[in-house]
Amino acid sequence: MDHYEKFYSRVAKSIQASEIRELLAIIKQRQDVISLAGGVPDPRTFPTDYLAKITYDIIKNKGAYALQYSETKGILEVREMLSEFLYKARGIVVDAEDIIITTGSQQGLDLIARALIDPGDVVITENPSYLAALGAFKIRGAELVGIKIDKNGMRTDVLEDTVKKLVKEGKKIKFIYTIPVAQNPAGTTMPPERKKHLIEIANQYDILILEDDPYSYFVFDDTVDIRPVKTWDTEDRVIYMSTISKILAPGLRIGWIAAPKMLTRKLELVKQYMDLHTPTLNQYIVAEAIRSGFILEHANKISPIYKEKRDAMLRAIKDYFPENVWYTEPVGGFFVFVYVNKPGFDTKKLMKVALDKYKVAYVPGKSFHTDGSGANSMRLSFSFPPPEVIEEGIRRLAEMIKNE
Ligand SMILES: Cc1ncc(COP(=O)(O)O)c(C=O)c1O
Repeated sequence: MDHYEKFYSRVAKSIQASEIRELLAIIKQRQDVISLAGGVPDPRTFPTDYLAKITYDIIKNKGAYALQYSETKGILEVREMLSEFLYKARGIVVDAEDIIITTGSQQGLDLIARALIDPGDVVITENPSYLAALGAFKIRGAELVGIKIDKNGMRTDVLEDTVKKLVKEGKKIKFIYTIPVAQNPAGTTMPPERKKHLIEIANQYDILILEDDPYSYFVFDDTVDIRPVKTWDTEDRVIYMSTISKILAPGLRIGWIAAPKMLTRKLELVKQYMDLHTPTLNQYIVAEAIRSGFILEHANKISPIYKEKRDAMLRAIKDYFPENVWYTEPVGGFFVFVYVNKPGFDTKKLMKVALDKYKVAYVPGKSFHTDGSGANSMRLSFSFPPPEVIEEGIRRLAEMIKNE
């Protein structure tokens, strides 16, 4: 019984505890369980010596600025650096005024939701999609409409039909949220034709696109086209966001949004009441990592660590999983998504059995879906455990899929 219930706002009352967070808390205490659940970076990839050194230097040499309050939008010097970086690394043409630094890209999602969504507005997403984005949109009263995926990500043919239908029904579609490269949770990547089709649909029906791109720095195959949707944006309707979380360290909480100027200005106004600004010191740290070229060097250095783990997971899936399992084969990122085609197979109901009998954990897939489907699905993450542990985890999971 919560004695404070009567004090809570409608929004607070509507928030449910996150399944993943609760699950992770249980798994943490279970040393006997192999967890393929959490999608956090491998701490071996954190450049601790480098960060210790530059942090010391920044505080020593620029302490008067680095420890001071700073601009809501982000330090100008940092935004200028990011504008150059986005062009060099991803071909995105934006100037410093188009960029706002956020406290992790999760804040970016929240900011955009606050700035754009009124209750009842439609937000279109991939189905399945990133849980914390769905949560940030839902909390603002969005009606979520999920678009089916296949091995190449969002089915833009289905998107087109859905948009047509929603427009006919008089629905107000605010934006299409997409994670085009190495999607969370599905691990899928959209080929350029789909990205262009997505833009065409948005142009035709006057809809914004929110492009979330945390994983493109970890694509293990050079032939994959990772150009952002934003590089095809001729009508200023793509809001592009990314983060330092997987490249340097998530604890720094630095993300960025590149959006049309007027929109960025509005986001700035919204952000000032949230946290005044993103931690100044951490912005200087990221700026130095960009200025010196460390950031891309480091991403390239740690990418093979994740590739080895991805390979271990896919190899084990091929070796151990039965025929009735559909799974994605990610070109990068942290995740493989699995659907088990077996009547009544419910990954959420089986979670206790998975933990107690098979000693393996995954994230049940239903909550990533916008339409209540996906009871037979699960997200498997290869980012954290070492390759041999991943293999054993998949072997245990295969046993469960065959037996239960
Ligand atoms: C698709 C996606 N967007 C946003 C985030 C949030 O990242 P950040 O640490 O920058 O808040 C994540 C984190 O896992 C993610 O997978």
